Amino acid sequence: MNISERAGSSAGDESCFAGLFPDVDYQFQMRMRRMTVREYFKRSANADAVLAERECWLRTEPLRYAAYLPEARESVEEAFGHLRDLDLIPPLDGQSDSESPERILREFGHRLEPDVVFLRPDAARDFRMVAACVCFPSSWNLEEKIGRPLAEIHGPVPTLNAELGGSISKFLHRMAPGVAWCRENWGLSASPELNHHPSRGLPRLESTVKLAGVWLRVERQALVALQKSGGILFAIRVEVFPLANVIADHSARLGMRRALETMSEDVAGYKGLTAARKRVVELLA
Ligand code: HEM
Repeated sequence: MNISERAGSSAGDESCFAGLFPDVDYQFQMRMRRMTVREYFKRSANADAVLAERECWLRTEPLRYAAYLPEARESVEEAFGHLRDLDLIPPLDGQSDSESPERILREFGHRLEPDVVFLRPDAARDFRMVAACVCFPSSWNLEEKIGRPLAEIHGPVPTLNAELGGSISKFLHRMAPGVAWCRENWGLSASPELNHHPSRGLPRLESTVKLAGVWLRVERQALVALQKSGGILFAIRVEVFPLANVIADHSARLGMRRALETMSEDVAGYKGLTAARKRVVELLA
């Protein structure tokens, strides 16, 4: 199943990489900007293919790609109402709004291109993942994250909690409602597939990789505060571009090269780049 070449078909347009590779040494950054919820969730040119792939994963392995805890109910219902009012998701066919939250969660999975994750503050005011429909994870396993607080979820990411944990938590508690707060993560991969679930055992980047075998994977994320329930909707839209498209974009090429040259060994290891980093820098030279 590979629709990712189409997912990256807008590459070549400089704006695809805008802001992804700032001209600074590599560091984890918040870099939040505002967008309307409508703008973030609107259908892309690849919507039909992306939705068909989502449908397939959810049909074949529903428990691997969706998870729900009862405390998510209010937030899932609130988000559904909000997106339905914006005409971003259709009403449930002939059903009442009291439909089960699990069904609503599946609806998000089938109708929206981005993956969705719901967070709720616990008694200690730490945000925990309480529900999610994630068909295109970047090498993480939903089963290991559901019910966990965000700091624990970010535990495998070297230095992230120490560098940004406090800012992330503060931001989540203070988000103004009604808008999508957006940011991006990026990584490199040997596969253009959207679904990088660890169970798939996709190939890793090797030290001898060729240009045509490297893909830029961009996660465009949005955070939306759910005012009534006190929860947060976290959405992740994955896009994949051939590395050649980055090379064709002068400032993206230089920015990625600087990022790869200055990334710590630990972070490079986490991002699966230990073997291939030097080779990719050569390709970008
Ligand atoms: C609000 C600001 C946030 C920032 C700045 C942030 C930052 C990051 C960064 C830098 C990574 C590593 C990605 C990479 O470099 O390849 C990461 C991974 C991850 N983040 Fe976040 N994140 C944020 C919010 C969230 C939220 C709300 C969730 C929802 C639960 C989340 C879930 C994850 C997961 C599941 C991973 C992968 C962890 C793993 O590999 O085990 N993040 N995040």
